[in-house]
Formats: sequence, C-alpha cells, structure tokens
Amino acid sequence: MVAEIQELIAAEHFEAALALVEPIANHMTVISIGQGAEGVEGAEESRESTAWRDSRPHFEVLYVDDIPQPDRLALKADMAAHRSADDAFAFELTIVPSFEDALIALIINPTIQAVVLRPGFVDFTKEKLSRDLRSYLDRLIGEPIDGLGPIQRILRLADKATELRPELDLYLVAGVGIEELATSVTKRFSRVFRREDRMELHLSILRKVGERYNAPFFQALQEYARRPAGVFHALPISRGGSVNNSTWIRDMGEFYGRNLLMAETSATSGGLDSLLSPSGSIKQAQTQAARAFGAKRSYFVTNGTSTANKIVHQALITPGDVVLVDRNCHKSHHYGLMMAGARVAYLDAYPLDEFSFYGAVSLHSIKKTLLDYRGAGRLDEVKMITLTNCTFDGIVYDVQRVMEECLAIKPDLIFLWDEAWFAFAGFHPVYRRRTAMAAAAAIEEEFHEHSYEQSYLEQQALLENADDSAWITTRLIPNPKATRLRVYATQSTHKTLTSLRQGSMIHIWDQDFTHLSDESFHDAYMTHTSTSPNYQILASLDIGRRQVELEGYELVQRQADLATSVAQAVARHALLKKYFRVLNTRDLIPHEYRESDKPMPLRDGLAAWDEAWRTDEFVVDPSRISLHIGLTGIDGDTFKHDYLMDQYGIQVNKTSRNTALFMTNIGTSRSAVAFLIEVLVKIAHDIDERLEEMGPSELRQHEARVQELTTSPPPLPHFSRFADKYRIDDITIDGDMRTAHYESYKHENCEYVMPERLAELVRSGVEVVAAGFVTPYPPGFPVLVPGQVITSDVVEFMAALDTREIHGYDPDQGYRIFKLGR
Ligand SMILES: Cc1ncc(COP(=O)(O)O)c(C=O)c1O
Repeated sequence: MVAEIQELIAAEHFEAALALVEPIANHMTVISIGQGAEGVEGAEESRESTAWRDSRPHFEVLYVDDIPQPDRLALKADMAAHRSADDAFAFELTIVPSFEDALIALIINPTIQAVVLRPGFVDFTKEKLSRDLRSYLDRLIGEPIDGLGPIQRILRLADKATELRPELDLYLVAGVGIEELATSVTKRFSRVFRREDRMELHLSILRKVGERYNAPFFQALQEYARRPAGVFHALPISRGGSVNNSTWIRDMGEFYGRNLLMAETSATSGGLDSLLSPSGSIKQAQTQAARAFGAKRSYFVTNGTSTANKIVHQALITPGDVVLVDRNCHKSHHYGLMMAGARVAYLDAYPLDEFSFYGAVSLHSIKKTLLDYRGAGRLDEVKMITLTNCTFDGIVYDVQRVMEECLAIKPDLIFLWDEAWFAFAGFHPVYRRRTAMAAAAAIEEEFHEHSYEQSYLEQQALLENADDSAWITTRLIPNPKATRLRVYATQSTHKTLTSLRQGSMIHIWDQDFTHLSDESFHDAYMTHTSTSPNYQILASLDIGRRQVELEGYELVQRQADLATSVAQAVARHALLKKYFRVLNTRDLIPHEYRESDKPMPLRDGLAAWDEAWRTDEFVVDPSRISLHIGLTGIDGDTFKHDYLMDQYGIQVNKTSRNTALFMTNIGTSRSAVAFLIEVLVKIAHDIDERLEEMGPSELRQHEARVQELTTSPPPLPHFSRFADKYRIDDITIDGDMRTAHYESYKHENCEYVMPERLAELVRSGVEVVAAGFVTPYPPGFPVLVPGQVITSDVVEFMAALDTREIHGYDPDQGYRIFKLGR
C-alpha cells in the first residue's frame, strides 16, 4: 500500500493517495497495539508479558493527565505489567495532557474504548490544529473552560466525552486532592478511584468493555448448538435432522454450513429465552440494546420495520384517534393506521418534482395542521404524529425542534419516528443529535433546567392573545411541567447495521410507558409476532448491537467519508461529470429550510458538517448518493436493471425517473467504491461511443429522451382529500380510512374504470372516490388511498408515469373505485 501511495503521488493523484493513507494509519494502530511494535517508546515495554500479543481484540485507553515524559513511560510500562494471558482483551494507554487533547483524541482515534481522567490535566493543546478541527472543537467545548473550578472542569470533560462517544467507559482517578466528590460527579463515571490502584483499574477497564462485548442471546445460541440434544418437536431441520440424512437436499447443509442447522431451534429454556415473554438472555440482550441506542427500553422484532410500525400503531392508537402522518411514508404505516382504526390526516412533504420524489414535511406545515385542529376544537383528538427520519433519499429532520414545537401546541402528542434507514446514526456525534432517542434525552435534560421554564413562561406571556400566524413564526417552547414525553423509534437494524434480513428494533422513550400502556404494547406485540421467531435473526441483532457499541463510531464515519469520496470523484472526473451529477443539499432541500448554504457540508470538513446539522431544518445524510442520470438518456429503472445489475452486478435500492440512489453502509469497502466509480466510467464510455456511432435520427431520439429526463414531468400530486362521508368537517383533513377500506370489501360497492374513462369523469366534474391503495413503485408512495377523491393532478401524474410496477392497479380492468352515485 505504501508503494501504491508513492506511485499515486508521483502521478500527482493526490486525492487518491490521501484516500489510501487512512486505512494504512488504522492498520498501523492495530499493529502498534496488537503486536507491540517497537515504536519510540517500545524499549520501555520490555517488562510486559508477550502473552497478550495474539488475536484477542485490542483497544486503547485514553489517559488524561499532564505528566512528564519519564512518568508517562513508567505509567505505560506499569499498566502493561498487569496484563495477563487470561484477559479477554488487551489494551494500551494513550496519554494526553489536556482537556482539548482528550477531545481531539476521541474525535480522531476510534480505537479508544475507555477514558481515565486525572485532575492534573491542563486546559489547552499545544498542537497546531487544522482550521476544521479547531472550529469543530470550539463549538463542541462551548463556554470557555479556563477559569472553571477543579471539579467543574472534570465534569465538563466527562460530559463532552460522553457527548462525543456515549458508549465509552469513564474513570476518575481522583487521588488525594479531591476529598469531597458529590454523587453528581461520581454518577458520570463507571468507577471513581480515590487512590491509584492500577491493578483495579486494569481489571475494571476489561470488565466494562466485556459488558459491551457480551452478547447474551448470541452466546446462548452458540452454547445450545454445541450441546447434544434430541429433537422431538416440530422442527425437522433442527440440528440438521432432515438435511444431513437426505439423499436429495444434502447440498443445503453444505451450502449453509453446520452451525446454521445446529442453531435452528425454538427452545426457550437451557439458556435460550422466549421472545414473547422474555426473562433471560433475550431480555438481557434487549436491555443492552436499549443502553446502546440510548432508549429507555428496546424490543427486538423479527419481521422487519414493516411489523415494528404496525406494533407501535396498534399499541398507541384507539379507533377514532387522529394521527398526522407523512403521506410519503412507508406502506406499513398506511396499513397499520387502517388496521388500528385511526383517523388519518395526511401531511404533504415538499415535492422535488424535477427528480420525481418527495423531501420531508416542513415544520411550518406540521404546526399549521395542529393549529387548524386547535381552531376546530379537535386538538384533543390528535394522538400521534408519524414521520420518516431519515427518508429513503436521505432527508433528515431536526427531530428535537419538531418535537419541542409540536409539544408546545399539544403537550401529550406521541411521536413515532420511522428510522428504518437510521439505526447507524446513534453512533456518531453529528448524526446522533438528529435521532429520536438522542432528541428525547436532550429534551428531558432541558426540562430539568430552571431557565427553560422561565423561557417558556416569558414566551407564553407574549403569545397570550397572538393569532396562529404568530405561533407559526415563533420558535415555540413547550411547558416542561405539562409535557409528557412519549417518543418511539422503529429501526430496520438489518438495513444499516449487522443483522440478518428482517432484524428490526423498536426503541422507546415514553414517560407514560406504565403498566397500562405496557399491556397495550404487549398485546400489539403479540398480535404481530410469530410464535416461531427466527433465532438466527435475534442472535444477529444481539451481535450487531455489540459491534456498534465497540466500533460503530469508526464504521459510521468511514461510510460517510466513502460516500463523499464518490461524490467528489463524480464531480471531478471529466467523463463522469459529462453524464452524471450527485445531487447535493441545494438540489434536495429548498432554500427556506436551511440556514447553511454549503452544497455538501461534509466535503468541507467535520466543522461544516456539524454546523449545518446544528442549524438547518433539514439536512442530507452524506452516506447517500442520489446520482442524477438524466443526461445519459437512460431512465432510472433501465439504468438499475439493464446496466448496473445485469452488466456489472451492482445492486441499488431505489431509482426515480432520472436518479439512482447509491448508499454506503458500515460494510462498504474502499475497493467497492473504486469498483462503482470504474463501472460508472465504463457506462459513460459506452454512451460516448454509442453517441459517436449514431445517425442523425437516432441522435434526435436520444436528445429527445435526454430532454424528457431533464425537464419536469407533471408535478407530484399532493394528497387531494378524503370524500366528505369519511370526514368530520371542512377545516380538518383527517379521514376514516378503515371504514372506506372495509366498504370496499363488498363487491357491490365497487367498480373498475380504465384510465381514459377516469380522466373523462374527473374532467366533467364527477366525484370519483378510490376504493383501494394505488402505489406506483418508484416513487413508492400511495397516489391513492381508500376513500380519497381522485383529482386531475392524480390523473395527469399517473398518465405520465412510465413505472413498470403499480401496486393496486389492474392493467386489464383499471382503477378500483367506489360505484359512482353510491
Ligand atoms: C421508511 C421505511 N420504513 C419502514 C420500512 C420497512 O422496513 P422493513 O423492510 O424492515 O420491513 C421501509 C422499507 O424500505 C422504509 O423505507
């Protein structure tokens, strides 16, 4: 790799050379820890045992104290002397002298798993920092640190370290200098040592890392697979029974391997546990997941977030409750709300007509809807709001702000954040702030501040006789005394972290999760959970949690960096930029929703990324790359199937008319990214060649196709409205979708119309009402739902659509509608 770097530098490919430096640097860290490389201080390690230089996981411990070099060497050697062959892991100390150096180390060194503070650290670094790091650090530190008392500075450093990496274990070695340590100090630390006891420190560090490493259900399943057992229940595949002795399906065993079959079971004892009534290893695994994801409680789901969403809807909604929901949300919400009997109030996300997909729902629109309900005297009926964070295309909300402002209008509103795409976000400080669980924690903390209540009271005085428009333009503060904080997040762990397909989690931060709601949650969970849950999925959720608690920070930063490198390659490569363009923040978020104006904040560094994610109403997840392909003359669907998949074996999740969405994830490698770039270059080459060979008429056809793909089709249709018979009044927008749905079960209520006839009917002013969902894929949102009035927007949009897959539409019979004049 070093040779390769030299070659790249010689050829003046500086970016590519720089890109190789990072993995080498990481590799060197591993070598220096794992194999005790003879570095500058190597000679001093002569006392250490060599037994620890093996394949056990290795990590670093950050030790923060301003001590002279000889003492550092002695300290390192002394700690190393406590290592033993019996230790489950091995670690090495990294010693830094100051508050600032400690935070810098935590930012740039992901192998740190624990931090030891000594009161002797100084405030500032002597290193010369890049402008980016300096400004990120300044914003992180906030109020000046010089002048803080001895205990205050320890607390501040502990808090800042936790803000960056909450999963780390913190220790305080207070020595004799600090006599009186209040509980407010000690509770921030895994342990406080009042005197220097290095053996105890060594053991504590290993034990606490061991707690994160512990994956109780995965380990129980491994244990089960190793034990001899006779199977006399209904699972022939268990322990390979029906496979190994078979003449015809032995290849199944060979393909999947022995352990998969050995671990197939539905036993609930002997170390295993019952998902439906967990009390052992599953319960423990869920508790650990709650800790890792910052939730009060977490539940495993083995049938994807499609099911997780239905569980939450059923648990919280009673028939007739009004639920505000993004119409562009995943189908599981529409079906879940229908089953739960909610009165559904659809919110429209801002449209991105040019690219044929939606953004997210503006806070303005959410507040206005809530205020309309207040005006109509129906606010008490509004139970919940459901939003997708982040969206498929990577638009991320300011979750904390949305919740605060909504709670200021409706203090007991429940939030369901669909984080199907965002499980990884909890493991990076910039992303984390915009997750549901972190936002709930931040709000709860604010509520404890006296000044918060003060601000609330002052704002109330100002808003006393104000009209709705003042409520909309003011940044509202909720009443900390009256608010009930009830926040739910559903995550497809399998989409962004290590988990087998369908592994999902529900994370809960609900003040009112009392025995009462506990019961309704339990019933909802029972309704949707199989009595034969897949243990491999559960075990993978447990092990996936272990991974992110120990290496999530590094993996998430890397996935964002890799995506940024793709965007840069596309922007700089002469041939690529002729046909492709990565959509940036300016393309995906209208100006009114952002204060920062950087097209790709992360490209400008950590500080710029952090700033945009602190200020803007919406931001774009940098690990997603929406590639505009209109100039190729190839539509998204053809690009996905005929080019990427069939020719090069590249899978993408989603396309629109003129875009293809590429996602990096924690498993994406640098070589995969290089392959993607190579493939795009080949495709661009092919197009170049084809264009050269085209005759004038073919060229005209191609240009017409490009023209079509680079100009806007008919706009994405807003949700029109529910038919009057399903509504309550003219001001509020909710409709009784369930009644409409069940009315459609009676064939005599419905008929089919072909598109041309439908267009005619709508044009002539007849009210036509949809009897079922119609969802073209892409874009994937229901253009029609049961009970919705079909308008000309919908008809025009559908007429222009060239999507192959339209769920709920029968090409032979047309649209299913309620009988005219019914
Ligand atoms: C926003 C959103 N929510 C929920 C789901 C369903 O998740 P799962 O595939 O885990 O059932 C998806 C799937 O794509 C999704 O995009």
